[in-house]
Amino acid sequence: MSEIIPVISATGLFTPPETITNEELVASFNAYVELFNARHAAEIAAGTVAELAPSSVEFIEKASGIKARHVLSKASLLDPEIIAPRWPERPNEEVSVMAEMGIKAAQDALQRAGRDPKDVDAVLCAASNMQRPYPAMAIEIQDALGIEGFAFDMNVACSSATFGIQTAADFIRAGNARSVLVVSPEICTGHNNMKNRDSHFIFGDVATAVLVEAQDMAPHPHWQIIGTRLKTVYSNNIRNNFGFLNCATPETIGTPDKLFVQEGRKVFKEVVPMVATMICEHSGDLGLDHAGLRRLWLHQANQGMNRLIAQRVLGHEASEDESPTVLDTYGNTSSAGSIIAFHLNNADLAAGDTGVICSFGAGYSAGTVFIRKVA
Ligand code: COA
Repeated sequence: MSEIIPVISATGLFTPPETITNEELVASFNAYVELFNARHAAEIAAGTVAELAPSSVEFIEKASGIKARHVLSKASLLDPEIIAPRWPERPNEEVSVMAEMGIKAAQDALQRAGRDPKDVDAVLCAASNMQRPYPAMAIEIQDALGIEGFAFDMNVACSSATFGIQTAADFIRAGNARSVLVVSPEICTGHNNMKNRDSHFIFGDVATAVLVEAQDMAPHPHWQIIGTRLKTVYSNNIRNNFGFLNCATPETIGTPDKLFVQEGRKVFKEVVPMVATMICEHSGDLGLDHAGLRRLWLHQANQGMNRLIAQRVLGHEASEDESPTVLDTYGNTSSAGSIIAFHLNNADLAAGDTGVICSFGAGYSAGTVFIRKVA
């Protein structure tokens, strides 16, 4: 029996229409800081409560490269009395928020591939956070799209999408499925602590979808998956303790470590070499020269990290053409970031061009997906 080759047939994107610029974000954050400090003036003077410091547009752009982010709930995020996303709770009969955005991204991918949902065999919802434990978000998305077969959720933080692509590719190689949708709805503002000056600016909301299929059924052009590799190394430097075992009282929900927290400097230092080495070694094992890769679609968390990783892989300072950025307008969108970079920056490449989609983040976790364009 000849080997079944997995390919990326199409990708899809759902971008929330509302955006928040750094200027808007900092103005509301600083209004919150002023309110907090005024309300706690006596405790601050007595030394029992720490005074809050204001945020700054210049710091955010210089430290991260982020200028704006798309969000699902702009008004409440900018309200100094709330500084958090707010959605009306939906009845069980209505599509859930996370599924809704995943469905839109999936429909975009299916339409680009000219794929009838009836021919899709599986849906993976691969994202950093699920809005509920069960029924799986993926099954709700599967049902809404009219897909038969099976669906399940998987979470590997910022690497969820690349882990999902490898899982889909393995299903296809093994003959367990021929067409698999990997959907990554990321509502990052829902798990970020928007009152934490160190990280209030980091995240945005978005959803992506990747249609992974057997080559013999794929539309043209498509991207042949020539190698995938996954890596995890335990670290507490990015952590979110939210969960049913530790939020038994209303007071514990929303306390700082029940939302995203990180040691950004340590993450930067430890993850850059890990990821650069992983791309170079995986290239070598595939018989590729890493310096000759046509494009790197890197995870979008910090422009300094991406600059360093790309430089180590390519051997020179990467141009925007070699390592495109979407971080400036999307912020960090967790597992969706490298997929957005690919989605918006692949049409111009020629047949035979080879590149890598690479994710990295909490876990630590990292994934490399080497792909080559087939016209
Ligand atoms: N506005 C103004 N100043 C701020 C600030 C803000 N919003 N947040 C922090 N600062 C200050 C700090 O208090 C600190 O001041 P000090 O030097 O007087 O102590 C200074 O800026 C530097 O803070 P630091 O946290 O060390 O900044 P940084 O240069 O490391 O940048 C990150 C912070 C988070 C942008 C950066 O570390 C990063 O992106 N790391 C990688 C994270 C990552 O990829 N995570 C993956 C998540 S999925």
